[in-house]
Amino acid sequence: MRKPIMAGNWKMNKTRDEALQFIYAVSNRLPKNEKLDSIICAPAIILRDLVKRQGDDLRIGAQNMHEKESGAYTGEISPVMLQSTGVEYVILGHSERRQYFNETDEAVNLKIHKALEFNLKPILCVGESLEQRESGITHTILENQIHKAFLNVKEEELNNIIIAYEPIWAIGTGKVASAEVADEACGYIRSLIRDLYSPKAADQIRILYGGSVSTKNVDELMAQPNIDGGLVGGASLNADSFIELCNAAVK
Ligand code: PGA
Repeated sequence: MRKPIMAGNWKMNKTRDEALQFIYAVSNRLPKNEKLDSIICAPAIILRDLVKRQGDDLRIGAQNMHEKESGAYTGEISPVMLQSTGVEYVILGHSERRQYFNETDEAVNLKIHKALEFNLKPILCVGESLEQRESGITHTILENQIHKAFLNVKEEELNNIIIAYEPIWAIGTGKVASAEVADEACGYIRSLIRDLYSPKAADQIRILYGGSVSTKNVDELMAQPNIDGGLVGGASLNADSFIELCNAAVK
């Protein structure tokens, strides 16, 4: 049995005060950590504040990380810096980073290795665009992203990596993938892990669906055999809605 995950991706939202209000609002209201990994991935500038107040049942993650430990990279955040905040997770390869900040599969692979070296657990995002889905190349795109991301990653490192399948056409659009479409893609990703590693690795790796997850569709998505949780943008910004999503994940 894979432990479910509900991860919020706040993107570029919330001031420090708003973030702290959220933390107070969810405290003691989330499912116990033995049952669910509840994670909030917040802007880097408030990570330390959130880690200090996260409580027993919430984990904190970053949304991006540079692959180098230090150096002349104005504006970037290094794995060393993230580690010093006490965060446990880091989203890598989100489609918004690939699309707007030219993040490549090669960079994502370097970031995965660095994150693991600094005890940060990557939440690796993969997913196809609408055009790619419509031209029938979803599997090719996913295969390429997964193969490149996992280059030289060892099987024993997999239990510290989470994969999020996020079709770009479903992110922030309100256009959720149907539960069947989402499950099929997550199942395909699982089969890629089986081929790259082993049946055991495929059974154990946790795969999330992301893209317009809401309190309305979460039950159906969570009921799918290959979906172990959600990576949620918009619906994670409100404390009550995040709590509802977390409760749905442990039903
Ligand atoms: P959304 O974002 O839930 O607002 O669609 C998901 C994501 O980008 O991780």
